[in-house]
Amino acid sequence: MKTLVCFSMLLLGLANLPAQAREATQPSALATSLSCQLPAAAPAAGAGQTLFDEYSWQLFVALNWPAQDGQRGSPDCTKQPGGSGYTVWQTYKSVAEIFLPNAANPGPWDSVLRAKSLGLINIAALKNTNQQERVDQAVGGWLIDQAGNPTYYDIAANETSYDYIVNNTFYNANVVSNASSIKFPNGVIEVKSSWRILTSKDNASRYLNMIAQVTTFDAQGKPNGVAQQLLGLVGLHIITKPVGYPQWVWSTFEQIDNVPADPSTHGSYYDPAATTVNQSPCNWNTQGAHPVCVPVSGTTFQTPDPLTRVTAIDSATDKVNATYRADPGLKNSPLKYYQLITTQRPLNPNMIGNPMGTPTPTLSANVTMESYIQPTSSCMACHSMATPPKSAIKSDYSYLFKFAQTPGATPSPIKE
Ligand code: HEC
Repeated sequence: MKTLVCFSMLLLGLANLPAQAREATQPSALATSLSCQLPAAAPAAGAGQTLFDEYSWQLFVALNWPAQDGQRGSPDCTKQPGGSGYTVWQTYKSVAEIFLPNAANPGPWDSVLRAKSLGLINIAALKNTNQQERVDQAVGGWLIDQAGNPTYYDIAANETSYDYIVNNTFYNANVVSNASSIKFPNGVIEVKSSWRILTSKDNASRYLNMIAQVTTFDAQGKPNGVAQQLLGLVGLHIITKPVGYPQWVWSTFEQIDNVPADPSTHGSYYDPAATTVNQSPCNWNTQGAHPVCVPVSGTTFQTPDPLTRVTAIDSATDKVNATYRADPGLKNSPLKYYQLITTQRPLNPNMIGNPMGTPTPTLSANVTMESYIQPTSSCMACHSMATPPKSAIKSDYSYLFKFAQTPGATPSPIKE
């Protein structure tokens, strides 16, 4: 907010200058604007990477603004980034609140926030050989950090998405699977987050953090209970459906310590000394993926192989990251320890005969969420195949309906 005020004061002052001086003093194209409000529109189709990356950062800042007490999904604009309480997106409805056992109606949007409880489901991370199998698996892939703990995941939707699902009874697997068409309205936002347990070795102020209940595991990797833990956000996927983008716009952020840019240093998921396949029962490494992703019998989780970033962050994106991270408005916020990996969007969103609209850039992966499939990971290509359970119709790029429940059936696990 502070930056916005300065920026407009600057513009007022500039109006009095001769044209040439005005040009020289004009703020660079990379001026940040920290606002509690979501950006009103996405950049025009065909705009460059920088404009889309600025759009992603504006989304990231607004969604990470402290939320208003007692009103889900709204920012408290009197607070600043880094202020106390849950952020806006943390008050969105989680899949566990949308898709209730027995396909019960999940009720009004503004229900009371329950304590957060996170599971391991990350179907997208499975590294089966073909993509179809990968997205149809029922359980998630492991991603173990350097402290030996698994990474936890959560998925949530904003009010526009929630209303669309509830008004159409699409929380019911029978209904959504028989739908003749699924088309989310403009203004929908869906998020997927990844979290690691912060230990005494971690500096919690470098993370958006929260206390939550997580599933615990025995040495064989079987769930054996729950525990309260301090969690730090390591990854955030944000997808929006702005006007003009039937294929949505795809942003993904990471905490900067996940994997180091300098391979001789440590990261939360990277040990420069671990170089061979055998050092980990599970994690991706540069020499090739492991065939099975289960902890070695009789051992606790081992130090993972080095998890590295396969597709480097584009230099244009790096510039936008540097500008936002240095903004004085983020001085007291953990957001300055996060970076955008990329914004994937359709280059030609409305071209007949080109339904995906040419995903640009072609690849996009978050090391904590598409860990094992980085070399081929395209948000849009994979999500374009999403369908409701046992249905052949497309579910408009959203995998939310994987969690739809069937009335009378044993609840399928959302958390495990
Ligand atoms: C190989 C397939 C695949 C790729 C690649 C992929 N996802 Fe997903 N995504 C899934 C599946 C399956 C789910 C639902 C279950 C889960 O979380 O694993 C999901 C869930 C999500 C969700 C929450 C539910 C929804 O569909 O809205 C978001 C948001 C999301 N992904 C964004 C992204 C972004 C951003 C990227 C690219 C950086 C990406 N995904 C890459 C398969 C994929």
